[in-house]
Amino acid sequence: MTSITLPLTYKAIELPAYNANVVRAMLGLHIVEKTITQISDNHLLVKMQAASCNPSDIAFIQGGYNIFKSVPCVPGFEGTGIIAAVGAGLSADHWIGKRVSCFTQEDSDGTWAEYLIIKPGQLIQIDEALTIDQAACFFINPFTAFGLFETAIQRKAQAIVINAAGSRVSDVLFALAKKNHIKTIGIVRRQQTMESLIKKGFDKVLLTSGESFDENLRIVMQEFDSCVVYDAVGGEQTGIIANCLPANSEIVVYGGLSGKPVSGIDSMQLIFKKLTVSGFNLNEWMNIAEPAKIEQTKNTLTSMIVSEEIKIPINIHISIDEIVKGIRSYLGAMSDGKMLIHF
Ligand SMILES: NC(=O)c1ccc[n+]([C@@H]2O[C@H](COP(=O)([O-])OP(=O)(O)OC[C@H]3O[C@@H](n4cnc5c(N)ncnc54)[C@H](OP(=O)(O)O)[C@@H]3O)[C@@H](O)[C@H]2O)c1
Repeated sequence: MTSITLPLTYKAIELPAYNANVVRAMLGLHIVEKTITQISDNHLLVKMQAASCNPSDIAFIQGGYNIFKSVPCVPGFEGTGIIAAVGAGLSADHWIGKRVSCFTQEDSDGTWAEYLIIKPGQLIQIDEALTIDQAACFFINPFTAFGLFETAIQRKAQAIVINAAGSRVSDVLFALAKKNHIKTIGIVRRQQTMESLIKKGFDKVLLTSGESFDENLRIVMQEFDSCVVYDAVGGEQTGIIANCLPANSEIVVYGGLSGKPVSGIDSMQLIFKKLTVSGFNLNEWMNIAEPAKIEQTKNTLTSMIVSEEIKIPINIHISIDEIVKGIRSYLGAMSDGKMLIHF
């Protein structure tokens, strides 16, 4: 059953083919007209309002992510919109008009389009208090940070170390750490990001490009019995950080921004200092979490966003036709905030 007339023609951003070269991958993106003739049973049609661009989208168009769709395809893993129609098996009275935040990584068209077809399990209904900008990037990074932070809680960590601390995941980790009176140590690669994090209230911020980065980190870590490190960079940085940690620490790898394999961890750290190295994947966390836990997480994150304990800066707003310009700007200033495509 639908409240709109089918067939429906709309605009979408299309990826014709993967390309490991990010510039070529980006330049390949173009606008296409698509048509929906039918909404499958138990699916919903979302009129998209805005969609975000995350590092996973960039890795995806390069063919360097864990998710592969049949090409050509519409990229975009996350966004927000309003339910416009339902397929058979779902109640129009219940769904139509609801504001939702979507997270989809299936082999079907993604969120970078005026309309999206999605299953109820791939979205959450959002609080009216959230703005479109907040709702567009509500799902992936806040939920990831919340899931990551469970390790700090379980380990009763005195401190967390965040690599690539200028990121939006880091914004939420920082807010959760403050709420739980846990110290925050940020690691970044640019002086400007370091200054903004110090201003924000991080207890310590270290520059990886500094001459004695590892020595400085070792000194900072002496204050703590153990800690949890959240690492989105990987490569040799993971090893350098791991080798500076006190006994019984854990390093959780949740991103591969360096594009390089994790390396250089001293065996002695693993044998004698009981270092744990683990990974985190939001998809898996969502699959395991009970609906009540997801609802509770949603409510906690919503109230922290509404109260501005969590602030997710949006640096770039574009229309669907400006995708190439938008990605170019985002890649040049990732720490400054997200890029949103508005429909
Ligand atoms: N495992 C999961 O389930 C999951 C879920 C969500 C996100 N993630 C990962 O979390 C990470 C952060 O995502 P986000 O959306 O929060 O990012 P974001 O807000 O777009 O910011 C990206 C940050 O990474 C930094 N960065 C980029 N490339 C880097 C490199 N090679 N070395 C060091 N720093 C680098 C940027 O710093 P500059 O300003 O200096 O470029 C910026 O501060 C990404 O790796 C993403 O894939 C993982």
